[in-house]
Amino acid sequence: MKFFLDTADIGEIEEAASWGVLAGVTTNPTLYAKIGGKLSDFHAHIKRICEICDGPVSAETVSLDRAGIVREGEELAAIAPNVVVKVPVMPEGLAATKTLSERGIAVNMTLCFTVPQALMAARAGARYVSPFVGRFDDISEDGLEHLGNIVAALRNYVFEHDVEVIAASIRHNQHVVAAALMGADIATVPFAVLQKLVKHPLTDRGLEAFLADWERVKNA
Ligand code: G3P
Repeated sequence: MKFFLDTADIGEIEEAASWGVLAGVTTNPTLYAKIGGKLSDFHAHIKRICEICDGPVSAETVSLDRAGIVREGEELAAIAPNVVVKVPVMPEGLAATKTLSERGIAVNMTLCFTVPQALMAARAGARYVSPFVGRFDDISEDGLEHLGNIVAALRNYVFEHDVEVIAASIRHNQHVVAAALMGADIATVPFAVLQKLVKHPLTDRGLEAFLADWERVKNA
């Protein structure tokens, strides 16, 4: 499983990239608003992210009609070769995804919650499909069960192009572990989750013991 960072924060992206584990970045309007992003800076901001991370960088469209989504998608794709256009699952989004993918532009279909939505996204030409896990948990449904169903359903079929599942709306380590075990291709995680993924109390305790013993070696 590959790790993407679900953020628009440049500092977080730089730090994760320096660890050598960052395979891509996903952004959305909420994440851009969270860092105080301005409309006039949006394209420059995505360009900066693409310079830090040479993997796929998802930038989301906000139009609701197919022509608008295609126009926005083409503008976003022109920012850098690794931009992936993020499009919500909806009829106009599917139509725009078909057009964009036929024009050689990679699309990540987002706000995906069900198996039929995921299958339609893949059929329309989406290169990535993003099932949301945590938002199901928020409404007391099992987000991981839905993710597992989507991974299993997509695996049953051969598409004309590669389709990768991005487990999104990840809230904690167990989401990531389960996503990996069920074979999700990618987990896009907030930086706070990425930081927790590298930690374990036994690692800390082991390191403490190694360092204490090395002090004994030095003083022997
Ligand atoms: O990038 C989309 C998704 O990961 C959003 O997550 O936490 O807003 O449900 P969340």
